[in-house]
Amino acid sequence: LKKLELFNGLSTEELQEIKAIMQEKNYAKNEMIFMEGAEANNFYIILTGLVKVFKTDEQGREKTLSLLGNKDFFGEMALLDNNSRSASVQAIDESKIFKISRKKFKRLVTEYPEISLKIIATLSQRLRNSNQQIQNLTFKQVKGRLLDSLKQLADKYGVEQENGILINKKITHQELANLVGTTRATITKLLGELIEEDKVEIKNRYLILKK
Ligand code: CMP
Repeated sequence: LKKLELFNGLSTEELQEIKAIMQEKNYAKNEMIFMEGAEANNFYIILTGLVKVFKTDEQGREKTLSLLGNKDFFGEMALLDNNSRSASVQAIDESKIFKISRKKFKRLVTEYPEISLKIIATLSQRLRNSNQQIQNLTFKQVKGRLLDSLKQLADKYGVEQENGILINKKITHQELANLVGTTRATITKLLGELIEEDKVEIKNRYLILKK
């Protein structure tokens, strides 16, 4: 718990109290955590793994809103605005996740203003990202959007290498397509171009964003 940014600055006793209200659960790769529109009963914090937050249209096409990993939280929106789930969340890698019930989450945010402020800061950051996405989807070509997405992934999950930054999560072309807002075939073609241009390298199925 000490490693979770959300609980920074709390005393050992306070952390112990919070630990007691958490439930740990393992999700398999591709397991659904909840669906958009569902009734909301829990708040979630990712210990390890990777989940995608996404929306689906009538034709079954998916748009990934965000990929969330270690120490990220989700499921706060529906609990805070008393509405149904605003998007679906699925584990796309094996994930270990803490769960807190609606009632206990409400108590946490009313009793600990530091926690509330951190949640608000994260919501602001996510709104910033969404605004950037709106701008990119409105004005940028697919290739520019792909490069931006790769940079964001490198910022979040990157490991420094001699020749660039390795994105330390295995992300399929289909997942990249859902994130960027295009088709898998286009991603495959554009990655080929970026490799030609020496902007990207693939090593053991990991992407490296070159210097
Ligand atoms: P909730 O609406 O309860 O369920 C879906 C969750 O996905 C939502 O809470 C947020 O935690 C998360 N979420 C929704 N939209 C975004 C976004 N644009 N970026 C990151 N996370 C999001």
